[in-house]
Amino acid sequence: MSNPAGEAQLARWRADTPGTAHRNHLNNAGAALMPGVVLDTMTAHLQLEAEIGGYEAADAKQSEVAQAYGDVAALINAQPHNVALVANATAGFIQALSAFDFEPGDVIVTTRCDYTSYQITYLALAKRLGVVIRHAEDLPEGGVDPESVRTLASDPRCRLVHVSWVPTNSGLVQDAEGVGAVCEELGVPYLVDACQVVGQFPIDVSRLRCDYLSATARKFLRGPRGMGFLYASDRALARGDHPLFVDMRGARWTSQHEYTIAEGARRFEDWEFPYALVLGLGAAARYAAEQGIHATGRRAFALANRLREGLLSMDGVRVLDRGSEPCAIVTAAFAGRDATQLVALMAKRGINVVSSLRWYGLLDFGEKQVDSALRLSPHYYNTEAEVDAALEALGSS
Ligand SMILES: Cc1ncc(COP(=O)(O)O)c(C=O)c1O
Repeated sequence: MSNPAGEAQLARWRADTPGTAHRNHLNNAGAALMPGVVLDTMTAHLQLEAEIGGYEAADAKQSEVAQAYGDVAALINAQPHNVALVANATAGFIQALSAFDFEPGDVIVTTRCDYTSYQITYLALAKRLGVVIRHAEDLPEGGVDPESVRTLASDPRCRLVHVSWVPTNSGLVQDAEGVGAVCEELGVPYLVDACQVVGQFPIDVSRLRCDYLSATARKFLRGPRGMGFLYASDRALARGDHPLFVDMRGARWTSQHEYTIAEGARRFEDWEFPYALVLGLGAAARYAAEQGIHATGRRAFALANRLREGLLSMDGVRVLDRGSEPCAIVTAAFAGRDATQLVALMAKRGINVVSSLRWYGLLDFGEKQVDSALRLSPHYYNTEAEVDAALEALGSS
């Protein structure tokens, strides 16, 4: 970074982030370093719970909890009643998926780069319920082809389209808006996995035209672990969608044989609620909005490109990220090297990175003929010097 205002801003971000003093953290796609304000918000609430009781502390913080819904909604251009707070992105995905009463022969259309756990869930649905899973084809430059989605989702048995906007195992950004336009035209429900997107670049659910969107707090949003959210559109709510295993937060028991589902997306939540994490998520959403997700995202992308350029200049290294504009997740394969060993070598130097194994992205890595890849994911609070230190460490390992 060369301009003084930029330097001052970076120094502020780092002062706000205690972890930057200890680690070169290039694992923001795993879990980012939390800003101090997120940590303080959560510890203050835990303290209050210890002092006055858990239920009583929740009552005392009702308006702050309501504020957290508002802050999360603002992040994605939604309303608070469209937001369900859940344990993680997968929990949100499962809750949304369980709203569909799949029957044998029903079709789910997905992509070749959808998240590992979701691919496993689809297989379980196929095995247990006879659901048919179809993977749309990729564009030549990488990422799902919305026209292939159109072909597959035109099947009258298609009940749902799901897209991981940014996959776990590469810097690819899929055309989630293009797929949304197709789904709206066909009238097929659309679920977006925005787990690696939230906090990395802006989200607008009205542009995605999705029925649902699931995300997590701990990654580029810089919130706590064990927290996530599910957006449920007014369209989905009006349909009466609700989870298969709805509990007493999501519904009221109104007579011996009846229940009434809760208004709004709350019907997708659990009764037991981690209030400290909820408040931490709210603080993270506010902090991200204050820094400006568009601007911070540009910086994270630029740091990732610096990493890619450095990696490309190394012998025996293959950068694996496809798509027209890769994001802040960088993946690379090192000829004859197991990425897990490289992770350990980097850890010895205080540099946090992770490996991605073939089965994490079986279809994608299969095509790329990759057994293991190193994943480096910078964020805006990282420095150019940290990126260069990682490159230097890899070059000399
Ligand atoms: C692309 C993608 N989708 C979904 C998930 C699941 O998120 P969670 O672990 O919060 O359930 C992950 C987690 O790494 C991910 O990378």
